[in-house]
Amino acid sequence: MASWQRTHTCGALRADSIDATVVLNGWIENHRHHGALLFVDVRDRYGVTQVVFQQEFDGALFERARRLGAEDVISVKGVVARREKANAERATGEIEVLARELVVLAEAEPPPFEVLDVAEANEELRMRYRYLDLRRRPLQNALLKRAGFVTAIRNFLAAEGFIDVETPILTKSTPEGARDYLVPSRVNPGTFYALPQSPQIFKQLCMVAGLERYYQIARCFRDEDLRADRQPEFTQIDLEMSFVEEPDVIALVERMVVAGFREGFGIELPQPFPRFDYEDAMARYGCDKPDLRFGMTLIDVSALAARSDFKVFRGAVESGGIVKGICAVGAAEKFSRKGIDELTAFAVARGAKGLAWAKVTQNGVEGSIGKFYEGDKGKELCAAMGASPGDLLLFCADSKKVVHKALGDLRLEVGGKLGLRDQKVFRCCWVLNFPMFEWNEEHARWQFAHNPFSAPVDWDVADFETDTANIRSRAYDFVMNGWELGSGSIRIHKPALQAKVFQFLGITPEQQRANFGFLLDSYRYGGPPHGGIALGVDRLVTLALGMDSIRDVIAFPKTARATDPMSDAPSVVAKAQLDELKIQCSVPPPGTGA
Ligand code: AMO
Ligand code: AMP
Repeated sequence: MASWQRTHTCGALRADSIDATVVLNGWIENHRHHGALLFVDVRDRYGVTQVVFQQEFDGALFERARRLGAEDVISVKGVVARREKANAERATGEIEVLARELVVLAEAEPPPFEVLDVAEANEELRMRYRYLDLRRRPLQNALLKRAGFVTAIRNFLAAEGFIDVETPILTKSTPEGARDYLVPSRVNPGTFYALPQSPQIFKQLCMVAGLERYYQIARCFRDEDLRADRQPEFTQIDLEMSFVEEPDVIALVERMVVAGFREGFGIELPQPFPRFDYEDAMARYGCDKPDLRFGMTLIDVSALAARSDFKVFRGAVESGGIVKGICAVGAAEKFSRKGIDELTAFAVARGAKGLAWAKVTQNGVEGSIGKFYEGDKGKELCAAMGASPGDLLLFCADSKKVVHKALGDLRLEVGGKLGLRDQKVFRCCWVLNFPMFEWNEEHARWQFAHNPFSAPVDWDVADFETDTANIRSRAYDFVMNGWELGSGSIRIHKPALQAKVFQFLGITPEQQRANFGFLLDSYRYGGPPHGGIALGVDRLVTLALGMDSIRDVIAFPKTARATDPMSDAPSVVAKAQLDELKIQCSVPPPGTGA
C-alpha cells in the first residue's frame, strides 16, 4: 500500500481509535482558521472527519495546509484525538485527527458552486457540473439507496424463479403512447431503428418462447413532453409471467415492493393494498391514482341537489350533470375568505364554473350556499356529507368529467394545505379494470388506453364498435401516494383477437403485418396466456426518499428540454457522418447563424 493510501474512511473513526495513527483520503469540504489552528473537514463517500493542523507542531506543514482550497483532494496522516466539544450531528463527531503529514493528491480550481447538502446554485449550473452536484450527500445517498433497492428487487425476483433477459435497444417501435427515438441504420440506408419505449413485445415473445418468468431492469426511451415525474430515458422493473391471472401478478408485485422497500429503504409498507375498480376510484377520488394518505372522498349529492332552490345545483342535475362535494374535517377556520377565493380560482383553472362552499357551525351552514340550506335542509346536507360543526364543505356542479377533474385536484390541494400529505407516510393501492379504449378529442378517434396488447375483460366481446366506452381491459395500475408507479395487464394471446383490436384502432392489416407481424405470427405457434407489469424505478425511489423530482435519483438526468448541459447532448454532428447515413437536415444546425 502506498504511504498516501487510507487506513480508514472519513466515516469510520470513533473514540475507540484515540491515539491511533491513521491516514485519510478525501475532498476538502471546508476549512476554518482559529489563530494557530486550522480545522479542515475531509469528506469521502462514507462521511466527514475533522482534521486539525497545529502551527506549533509543524510550522511548514501548517503553511502548506493554509494554502489548501475547497474540493482539493488530499491524503492526511495523523493521530486520532478526542474532540474538546463533541459534534453529535456527525458519526465521527467525538474525534478529530491531528495532522502530521499532508499529500495533495489533486488541486481543485475554485468550484462554480459550493458543494452543500441543500443546493443553492441553480439547476442548470448544477447539471452542467453534475459530477460536482453528485458530491452532495443527499444525491450520493439517493444513488446508494437506489442501488440497494434494485439489488433487493433482483434478489427477490431471482429467488422467485425469474430469468433476467436483455432485450434489444436497437429495435422496432413499441407502442406505449409516446414518440419514438429513432436511430438511422448506416448499413441499410433510409431505414431506422427505434429505441424501445418499453420491452413490451419482446417480453411477450419470451413467454411464447417458454421462459415463463421474465424480468429486466430495463431502460426505456420516450420522446414526450417532460415534467417533474418524467424523463426521456428512464428505468423500469419490467416483468412478465405465463399461465397467470390478475391476482397472481398483483400478489407477486406486492411481495416484491414490500421486500424492496424494507431492504432498500428500511420502510415498512402498510398492507394490504386496497384494490379499486377504475370507476370506483374515479367516483371516490376523481382520478385513477388515488392518494390514500387521507380521506376527504368525493361525495355525490346529486339527488339532494336536484331538489335544491340553488339554481346552479338543480340546473347541473337537470342537464345531465352531477353535484359532488368534499368535506374538509375541522377546516372551517383554516380557510379565510381569501383562502376560499384561492380554492375557487384553483377549481376554475381546472374547468369548474365555480366553487360552492359552506362552513358548518352549531347554527347550521354558512357560506355561498348558506341561504339555500337553512334549517333542516342544512342538516340534511351535513348528514349526506358526514359533516360536523367546524368542517368546511366544497362543491362542484357540472358534467361528471369536469366535477371529477376539479374536485379530485381540489381534494389534493386542500389535503396538502391541511398537512395531510406527509412525505414519510406511504399508502399503496391497485386500480383495476381500466377502460380498454379512450376517445382522443384531437384526432376524433378511439385509441388504446394502456397498450394495444391488453386483453379485454370479456374474452368473447363481439363488437367493439357498439359499446366502445364500456369495454374494460384487464389492465391494472400500482399507485402510491397519488403517483402511478406501475402499469400492467393480462395480455391478448390469441392472434384473431389481437388482429381485431388492431383493426378497431385503425391499424390496417398491412400496418399490422409491417409493425407487429412477428408477434402475431408467434401466437400461431402456441402463445401461452400471460400477463405482467412494469414499475418505474425512478418514481419509486423519488417517493421513497421524499425527493422533489425524479432528476434527483438519476445520476445523469436530462433537463425539461431533454438536453444534457454537461455533455451538450443532443448536438450537431459532422456532415461526413450524415452523408454516410444518407441523411439531409431540412433545418440549419443550431448556432450556425444560418
Ligand atoms: P407504462 O407506459 O405505464 O407501461 O410504464 C410503466 C411505468 O413506467 C414509469 N414511467 C416513467 N417514469 C419516468 N419517466 C417516464 N417518462 C415514464 N413513463 C413511464 C411509470 C409507469 O407506471 N409496457 C408497459 C408495462 C406492461 O404492460 O407490462 C409500460 O411500459 O412509473
Ligand atoms: P353565483 O350564483 O354564480 O354567484 O354563484 C354562487 C356560488 O356558487 C359561488 O360561490 C360560485 O363560485 C358557486 N358556483 C357557481 N357555479 C358553480 C358550479 N358549477 N359548481 C359549484 N359551484 C358553483
